[in-house]
Amino acid sequence: MTDPLLALRPWDAPEVTSWGRLPMNAVDRRAGAHSLDGGWRFQLLSAPHAPVGGAWSTATVPGAWTMQDTDDLPRYLNVRMPFAEFPPRSPAEDNPTGVYEREIDVPAGWAGRRIVLQVGAAESVLLVHVDGRPVGVSKDSHLAAEFELTEFVRPGGRAVLRLTVVKWSDASHLEDQDHWWHGGITRSVLLYATDPLYLADVDVRAGRDGELRVDCRVRDTGGALPAGWYLDGELDGLALAQDTAFDRENAEDERVSAFLGEARLRTRVPEVRPWTAETPELYGLTVRLHRADGTVADTSRHRIGFRDVAVVGRDLLVNGERVYIRGVNRHDFHPLTGRTVTYDDLRADLVLLKRFGFNAIRTAHYPGDPALYDLADELGFYVVDEADIESHDHAHEIADDPRHLNAFVDRVSRMVLRDKNRPSVVIWSLGNESDYGANHDAAAGWVRRHDPSRPLQYEGAAKRGWADPEVASDIACPMYAPLEECVAHALSGKQTKPLIQCEYSHAMGNSNGTLADHWAAIEATPGLQGGFIWEFWDHGILQSVNDGRPVGRGGAGLYDNGVAAPGYRWAYGGDFGEKDHDGAFVADGVVFPDRTPKPVMYEHRELAAPLRLELFRHEGLVVSNHQHFRGLDWLRGTWELVLADGRTLTAAAELPALLPGETAVVPFPLALPPDGGEAWLTLRVTTAEDLAWAPRGTEVCTPQVLLRAGAQAPEAAVREPAATGPAVTRPVEADADGLLVHPLLTVAPTLSLWRAPTDNDELGGMAPRWRAWGLDSLVRKVVSVRREGPSVTVLAEYAGTTGVVRHRQVLTPVEGGVRIDEQAELPAEFDDVARVGTVFETVAGLDLLEWFGQGPWESYPDRSGGAPVGHHALPVDALFTPYLRPQESGGRHGVRHFTLSASDATGLAVALDEPRQVSVTRYRAEDLTAVAHHDELVPRAGCVVHLDAAHRGLGTASCGPDTFPSYLVAPGVHRWSWTLRVL
Ligand code: GAL
Repeated sequence: MTDPLLALRPWDAPEVTSWGRLPMNAVDRRAGAHSLDGGWRFQLLSAPHAPVGGAWSTATVPGAWTMQDTDDLPRYLNVRMPFAEFPPRSPAEDNPTGVYEREIDVPAGWAGRRIVLQVGAAESVLLVHVDGRPVGVSKDSHLAAEFELTEFVRPGGRAVLRLTVVKWSDASHLEDQDHWWHGGITRSVLLYATDPLYLADVDVRAGRDGELRVDCRVRDTGGALPAGWYLDGELDGLALAQDTAFDRENAEDERVSAFLGEARLRTRVPEVRPWTAETPELYGLTVRLHRADGTVADTSRHRIGFRDVAVVGRDLLVNGERVYIRGVNRHDFHPLTGRTVTYDDLRADLVLLKRFGFNAIRTAHYPGDPALYDLADELGFYVVDEADIESHDHAHEIADDPRHLNAFVDRVSRMVLRDKNRPSVVIWSLGNESDYGANHDAAAGWVRRHDPSRPLQYEGAAKRGWADPEVASDIACPMYAPLEECVAHALSGKQTKPLIQCEYSHAMGNSNGTLADHWAAIEATPGLQGGFIWEFWDHGILQSVNDGRPVGRGGAGLYDNGVAAPGYRWAYGGDFGEKDHDGAFVADGVVFPDRTPKPVMYEHRELAAPLRLELFRHEGLVVSNHQHFRGLDWLRGTWELVLADGRTLTAAAELPALLPGETAVVPFPLALPPDGGEAWLTLRVTTAEDLAWAPRGTEVCTPQVLLRAGAQAPEAAVREPAATGPAVTRPVEADADGLLVHPLLTVAPTLSLWRAPTDNDELGGMAPRWRAWGLDSLVRKVVSVRREGPSVTVLAEYAGTTGVVRHRQVLTPVEGGVRIDEQAELPAEFDDVARVGTVFETVAGLDLLEWFGQGPWESYPDRSGGAPVGHHALPVDALFTPYLRPQESGGRHGVRHFTLSASDATGLAVALDEPRQVSVTRYRAEDLTAVAHHDELVPRAGCVVHLDAAHRGLGTASCGPDTFPSYLVAPGVHRWSWTLRVL
């Protein structure tokens, strides 16, 4: 006999969003439930109608089968669907279908109780059978589905539970998000029991005035409710009683039948401690449902927060404050499990985000696991909760197609029903990149009726007009809008809604240029309130190079510090043999696949600093509290006076007691020595006590002010005419081609205009242009080598395919070394190049870089905010940032002078005429350009050193705006000088 669920063909029926599934609600059943996680019998069929009957293997639940031992591997496509069928169809034959089976032992003690199965997430269609009998169907891959099993199982008995998961369906067309395609059960499976009389839903409204209202829905499996039931509860010890006025109204309301159990608890909490992302104050709420005899039938526990959120004019207000939204887009990702994340994984994500100054998360592009919201409530994040709708490839057709109407409303409403009590959730989002149609308006209408307490956003609607009052978005939430357009809108006088970009600053590879400029504009422009960086993760899956398979759960320990162990790599699109794919576009996060922060995180941390420092007319320092809701008492500071001559003086800092937004002038903590050259004062700020997200002593920010410019800096020497004293006797050695001969250099200094293209350079179209100009393979031709006394002047031409750069190098002996004065003249057609500077290579063994300049992290001209000027030291191998697709990496901005030394302290010292961009790596630009993955790089024994007179900003052009004109390298004449000495 044909199985009715299969006969229904729900994978090709967009109108069918579920069958037999229980309504979503906000009662948390995780505590006390029986976990069905673990090994299940498993078969992967070629299509849903293929017969089950092959050999069973074992699959771990939760876990995508694409990350386990099957032939159906992960696949990365951004916009394009992985199959040709037009919506609502899916492939008839080639549709991987996982059959999961296991026995469930139903406790004898559950006799008389209502038994419920909860499947945390399954993609994309779930069919449930018990002992071969059809139970239900569900779609909506990132929300739980519940089914009542009371009728299907016998307490004290054993039953066979089968979950069939069909990978491709009409729902896949609504789940076309930009990440890996997987299949399987990706969140936990639970079994629980309740009394037949149970809490069907609890709806909490808790405002910052302390007003608490808890609306409960009570149901009975028998239908009509037994007489005499009632509710009570407590809030951190404060007793809550049923609102009798509400009961009276209900009793008089003829529409309220005996089937509809509604009751309300109500109180006002005096001196409430409001919830904000800075002060995530939670209260424990317990709701109890009693039978007439006073015994407890059901209990629901919640951690709630008292807060208000509102859009007023063009401001988003949390508790009346216009808070900055320092957000990130977060997908569910793990390099070993693909999509399945544990509580510890989630906690580690959010802890890291807190440490780097983020205060907001957009759940791009589907609702997260309930634990994500537990953590956001507890640690303090503003959450844009986004429904699981992205119909990208067929967006226009689907947005108005009534066959998909149910799915839109279903997905949005189920998210709201589940998460409505979360203080962290401040905005609902209708989804992502699905055009804008009647289906959105239907979903928006449902949300506005059900939860008027929160704003709603949808980028696709906002796109119709940032100020348009009609559309289904209370926020102007564009993605990757040019900053100047945002500012112009805010200044136009026409802005009607807060402008908070749902995506900006695309973090693919070496990126996030101009983040500091964005924040300067946001803070200076009323109406701009922040945005969400795209995105948190580089989705590199750990892959064995040998067999090309995902390593899976056994891979813990096979990576460190952003790098996969030898024999492994971070796979991106195409690495699992996919024919159609979108390559490394899936690696576009601010953390590596093992959660190691990329350098941009340090800049973000500084931009989000709770405390700012400025110079006050050379009389002292202005300290300001840059937070919205709390003082500085959770922080501790240390002053560091950094002098160019190598000294760093320290003193404990007394942070002033400041309310949010207040400033105070404090005297200079340390006397500035008259000598010592350029001087900077840094306030190193750490946590003063253990916090949920950081142990005491965790660095929070390092604001810095310049106390004295670098007139007396050692590098000033290079500007002076060459010393002609008796100490300088040896003339500079150069070969017939005018190349410097030096015992510590294996490749003499020459001109470089090329960098290994970043993802932004490639996708933004710059690198193709540079290649067309021949900048990656300039041909050097010596024009003249002229010796004058001990100096050598070399004129050379560097020819590209379309232009010639004239380069002059004057090599002059100075005490202990050589001074190199350089000039390059770029023709007008080279109007935007990666760099103009010098490159040379050293002998092996110079493995330590010590520098005075910005650091210690990697920094670039348009991404240098979090790197204070100081005396830094790092092993050369630690300077490189292992972006998944190798590219320009490891640069340090504003370097004044540096040494490269061997373990016996011999080596070389370089002083620059002014702060310059420097990089020291094991790789030539061409080494990096030649390979697709980090593991293919072969480090050179010596160092490849770049000193740049000018280095192009990074921008974000892989998806969004390029860097600003001020960070471009212009044609014309560039001059720079440096000295090279032997230590
Ligand atoms: C956006 C999209 C994201 C991601 C990003 C590029 O358009 O919403 O999901 O694709 O671009 O990485």
